[in-house]
Amino acid sequence: MERTKFILDEKDMPTRWYNILPDLPEPLPQVLHPGTKQPVTPDDLKPIFPMALIMQEFSPERYIEIPEEVQAIYRTWRPTILHRAHRLEKALDTPAKIFFKYEGTSQAGSHKPNTAVAQAYYNKKEGVKRIATETGAGQWGSALAMGCMFFDIELKVYMVKISYEQKPYRRILIETWGATVVPSPSTDTKAGRDILAQDPECTGSLGLAISEAVEDAATRDDTNYSLGSVLNHVLLHQTIIGEETRKQMEMAGEYPDIIIGCIGGGSNFAGQFLPWIRDKISGEKPDLRIICVEPKAAPTLTKGPYAYDFGDVAGLTPLLKMYTLGHTFIPSPIHAGGLRYHGMAPIICHLYNLGLIEARAEYQIPVFEAGVKFARTEGIITAPEPCHNVKVAIDEALKCKESGESKNILIAHSGHGHFDLAAYDEYLSGRMKDYEFPEDKVKEALTHLPKV
Ligand SMILES: Cc1ncc(COP(=O)(O)O)c(C=O)c1O
Repeated sequence: MERTKFILDEKDMPTRWYNILPDLPEPLPQVLHPGTKQPVTPDDLKPIFPMALIMQEFSPERYIEIPEEVQAIYRTWRPTILHRAHRLEKALDTPAKIFFKYEGTSQAGSHKPNTAVAQAYYNKKEGVKRIATETGAGQWGSALAMGCMFFDIELKVYMVKISYEQKPYRRILIETWGATVVPSPSTDTKAGRDILAQDPECTGSLGLAISEAVEDAATRDDTNYSLGSVLNHVLLHQTIIGEETRKQMEMAGEYPDIIIGCIGGGSNFAGQFLPWIRDKISGEKPDLRIICVEPKAAPTLTKGPYAYDFGDVAGLTPLLKMYTLGHTFIPSPIHAGGLRYHGMAPIICHLYNLGLIEARAEYQIPVFEAGVKFARTEGIITAPEPCHNVKVAIDEALKCKESGESKNILIAHSGHGHFDLAAYDEYLSGRMKDYEFPEDKVKEALTHLPKV
């Protein structure tokens, strides 16, 4: 029997994160101050982030050492396993070789702790006692609750109200790890109260929860803010995934032809593909294909314009140059809560704009169909977000079947779906529905783009 798992020894876990910034063919567009519209300075960010993370955000260094204390916690679940999906290949009768790097074995069940632990560490080191953050369906909130537990930091999580009410399990995880969680919009912030005054029934959105968490951090001296995706330093921390995978693909004696991942804010997939794309940028692997997958309900790269926009609803964050559906846009309630965001990581947007990566948008019913196929071949119940990549990987593997090519397909598998079984139930019972691209809603939201 061919080996199906590529297991890296703990002592071979990479000890550095990879920073793409010095290797970009053109510099990243600057981040602008929301008031002055001038480039932000480290001092502008100091009220809400620790200096170490601010320096990482703009760092010119290609590699950044992972602190010993962070490595020690990483080793409680890392290195994660690279699998060869023999059974899925067989079921598809494809000559393609399908690999998946599985991040579902962290304590929180996803890739999010890779940055949560690092962010908690740097905050602790700079004496921060309390952090505020937002969470959609609870993946990020639970990961940061775990990170803050390890470093004894108080955490307040603003959780999108519809998830708070409908998806109790991640809320309970957050509380079990010792953090406080409130439904957003809440009455605890001005941003929340303003929205509730207009619409007392508002079910919330990620952009609104970000406004609440940023306001909380900006108005209290003892509190910092933490974001689980989008920003450069978050993508940086996730590169441990791709750095490990490079070693594991070497163990397999293979190099990927196609790398596929889902993008919400872009952190898990960038964490996988940034350590590879440097080979494409350097000209060593010009044919490497990198496919970003997003939902039809929030098709940021495939339908949005490339423009400066806020990261949140209330317009409190710096302005980021990104593909955006408009910061006031609230996506339809698809199950992949982590992909319901109006914007995207500036690094991903820049690479897409330069034509170095591709993007595709998928409906949720075929996405769950792929998730069920994966469960019935590889045995893993996949979170709704990475079910998107499984769908596109299957499509690519079937193309290989037609053409007879034996390509290496690498899936960035960001987490398990054990708390998403209601979504699987909806699919299996035929109650799931698809959401079209809401063109009119996006058009309206884009009228609110800030003038730069
Ligand atoms: C399992 C999982 N995958 C992917 C995502 C999307 O986020 P990102 O694009 O930052 O990886 C999320 C976000 O919550 C998630 O929970």
